[in-house]
Amino acid sequence: MAAQINPSILSADFARLADEAKAVEGADWLHVDVMDNHFVPNLTLGVPVVESLARATQTPLDCHLMIEAPDRWAPQYVEAGAGSVTFHAEAAAAPVRLAREIRAKGARASMALKPATPIEPFEDLLPELDMVLIMTVEPGFGGQAFLDIMLPKIRRTRELISKHGLDLWLQVDGGVAASTIERCAEAGADVFVAGSAVYGADDPAEAVRALRAQADA
Ligand code: DX5
Ligand code: ZN
Repeated sequence: MAAQINPSILSADFARLADEAKAVEGADWLHVDVMDNHFVPNLTLGVPVVESLARATQTPLDCHLMIEAPDRWAPQYVEAGAGSVTFHAEAAAAPVRLAREIRAKGARASMALKPATPIEPFEDLLPELDMVLIMTVEPGFGGQAFLDIMLPKIRRTRELISKHGLDLWLQVDGGVAASTIERCAEAGADVFVAGSAVYGADDPAEAVRALRAQADA
């Protein structure tokens, strides 16, 4: 699969979200970080803002839920217009049931792992998912330094996906930039979230194209 670049709206100007979403049209997905001040020590946005964003852009929304009780809330993000919903493995009470519910409502189902959470215990769940997200920083904030020590986990996750012959996307999120994206792609990632590397650039749309070219090289 050609590399997909998902700009993270977390690094955008929240007072101008519609314009900031338009600034990266041409990106594959718009990554929307939902934080609840409990699962992570930061608070961002919720269902009403996702509903408005879904109306404001043609780009499909990739909602990354860094929240407690995703079993209860994730379906509402599908109803709000998200095309992909990612819940955290550490927070989900019943990940298989939740993934099935997200899919039944018509979105792609994805599961995220914090840096200290291994992939191996979730091997048997992979067929229930459309994407796995390997966090390459501790979730909560944009602009943090990429954790190289996550590269072996990316590689092992790709091996498990291949071993089971699954058509599953492998996303990386945190510190993805010109200086790190090639190592992520080489390790087997194919979906790249980039916040500060896109919205911190003079031309965000050009930054998306440049990152995609690097990942595909
Ligand atoms: C962090 C979020 C990321 C964040 C990435 O918890 O999940 O999506 O926006 O930002 P950068 O690309 O700046 O590390
Ligand atoms: Zn994210």
